[in-house]
Amino acid sequence: MYAMTLPTFGDPDVLTWAEVDDPVPGPGEVLIEVAATAVNRADLLQRQGKYPAPPGSPAWPGLECSGRIIGLGAGVTGWHVGDEVCALLPGGGYAEKVVADAGLLLPVPGNVELADAAALPEVAATVWSNVFALAGLKAGEQFLVHGGASGIGTFAIQLAKAWGAKVAATASAAKHDALRALGADLTIDYRSEEFEDLVSADVILDIMGASYLERNIEALAPGGRLTMIGTQGGVKAEFDLRRLMAKRAWIAATTLRARPVENKREIIAEVREQVWPLVEAGKVLPVIDRRLPLTEAAEAHRVVEANAHVGKVLLTL
Ligand SMILES: NC(=O)c1ccc[n+]([C@@H]2O[C@H](COP(=O)([O-])OP(=O)(O)OC[C@H]3O[C@@H](n4cnc5c(N)ncnc54)[C@H](OP(=O)(O)O)[C@@H]3O)[C@@H](O)[C@H]2O)c1
Repeated sequence: MYAMTLPTFGDPDVLTWAEVDDPVPGPGEVLIEVAATAVNRADLLQRQGKYPAPPGSPAWPGLECSGRIIGLGAGVTGWHVGDEVCALLPGGGYAEKVVADAGLLLPVPGNVELADAAALPEVAATVWSNVFALAGLKAGEQFLVHGGASGIGTFAIQLAKAWGAKVAATASAAKHDALRALGADLTIDYRSEEFEDLVSADVILDIMGASYLERNIEALAPGGRLTMIGTQGGVKAEFDLRRLMAKRAWIAATTLRARPVENKREIIAEVREQVWPLVEAGKVLPVIDRRLPLTEAAEAHRVVEANAHVGKVLLTL
C-alpha cells in the first residue's frame, strides 16, 4: 500500500507518498481501507520532529480516519467486514490502509458522509473527555473556548451549545460570523479584546497554555474549571496561587494520545453514548473547511499552519 511518509523532518514538502508494507491486524484490531483522514495540529509538530509517533504505531501521521473494515484480527466482536467506521488512531492515518483498535471505532452516523466522519473522532474524544467528563460543564453554565475556529473549537462550540451552556469563543475577527452560526453567543477577537474582561467562565477549554494562564485564571468564575489541551503560547508560566484559591477553582491538563488504550476505549464508549446521538440529531456536525487528496497533504499542512481554515481540513483517498 501507499502512505504519506516522513523520510525526514522539516517543512511540509518532506511529506512523501511512498510504498510501505501492508498493516496486519493483531488480536482485538481491525484493518480499515481509509476513505479519509484529517489534519490535526499535532501532525504539524510530528512533521517537524517535535512529537514522535508512539511505539508500535506507524511512523507517519494521522490521528483519525474513516473508511470500511476490510479485515478482522482475532477476538473482534461487534464489528464486521464492510462496516463503515471512523476511528481514533495513535498515528498512521495518512495511508491507504490502517489498523485500529476495535475499541476505538465509532459507527459512521447515518447523516454524515463516510469521508466527513474522519473529522469527528479526535475532536469528539478530546472535547468530551475534557469539557464534560473532566470539567463537568452543565446546562446554563458559561463556557469559554480558545481558538473557536480550530477543529477542536468548532466542535466544542456546538457540543456545549447543544448541552445548554452559554458559549464564548476567542478567534480572529474574520471568523466570528462562522462561530456565531455554529452557536457561539459571544465571540472575542483575541488580537484586540481582553477576554478576561468580557467573560466570567465556569469552564474554559484552553489551547494556548503559558501565555494565557494568568488571564484564564482571571476569567474563571468562582468554582471555575480550566482545562488545558494545548501549548501554542508556550509551556512555562508563573501565576499567583492565591487567585486560584480565592475562586476555589481548579486547573487540569491532558493529552489524548498519551492516555492508556483502556482509558481511550472508555472515552470512545462515552462519546458513542453521549455525543453520537447529538450528531445523529444534526445538533453537532463535522465542520469541514476543505477536502484535499491525501497526496496533497503538504498543501493541507500549509493551510493549517497559516490558520487559514475554520474547522477541519480533510485528506481524502
Ligand atoms: N491535548 C489533547 O489531547 C489535544 C487533542 C487535540 C488537539 N489539541 C490541541 O488543541 C489545539 C487545537 O487543535 P486543532 O487541531 O483543532 O487546531 P487548528 O485547527 O490548527 O487551530 C489552531 C487555532 O489556534 C487559534 N489561535 C492561534 N493563536 C490564538 C490566540 N492567541 N488565542 C486564541 N486562539 C488562537 C487559531 O485561531 P484563528 O484562526 O482564529 O487565528 C486556530 O483556529 C492545538 O493546540 C492542539 O495541539 C490537544
